[in-house]
Amino acid sequence: MIHVLFVCLGNICRSPMAEGVFRNVLKQENLSSRVSVDSAATSSWHIGSPPHKGTLSILKKYNISAEGLVGRQLTKEDFEKFDYIIGMDESNVKNIFEITGKPQQPKIIRLLDLTDHNKDVPDPYYTGDFEETYQLVTEGCQALLEKILKEHRLT
Ligand code: 4NP
Repeated sequence: MIHVLFVCLGNICRSPMAEGVFRNVLKQENLSSRVSVDSAATSSWHIGSPPHKGTLSILKKYNISAEGLVGRQLTKEDFEKFDYIIGMDESNVKNIFEITGKPQQPKIIRLLDLTDHNKDVPDPYYTGDFEETYQLVTEGCQALLEKILKEHRLT
């Protein structure tokens, strides 16, 4: 099993959105039994919380399940458990380095560095634009799928 973890600041907007989107991609590709998905926060602010209502409504709009999405905080142990630890922005990546104590590891990646955008996923908690974030998260997830297929020879 290949283990993927999406990480953002609160684990209520961007990373649970990515978890839902990527789980849906895996389902469509018949890879659910090969790749697992989870998400976590760098902060402790929303432990045990459901996703933000903006994330829930965008997932609903695109017919993607939000089942099982609950806020939790990243731990040091997550570094060993996961094969890909995907931050939504540069500050998430810095915080992942700090929490795991593992700086500059190739498994720790900023999502849109996998695409031609090379930028942070905008935080809809502040921008209010969940559609923009959804489109970028979806592009990032597609690029992540291609990377995993290539690296694990799943095609
Ligand atoms: P997220 O967005 O990191 O995409 O989940 C945020 C969620 C909550 C807060 C900030 C960002 N907050 O300040 O509570």
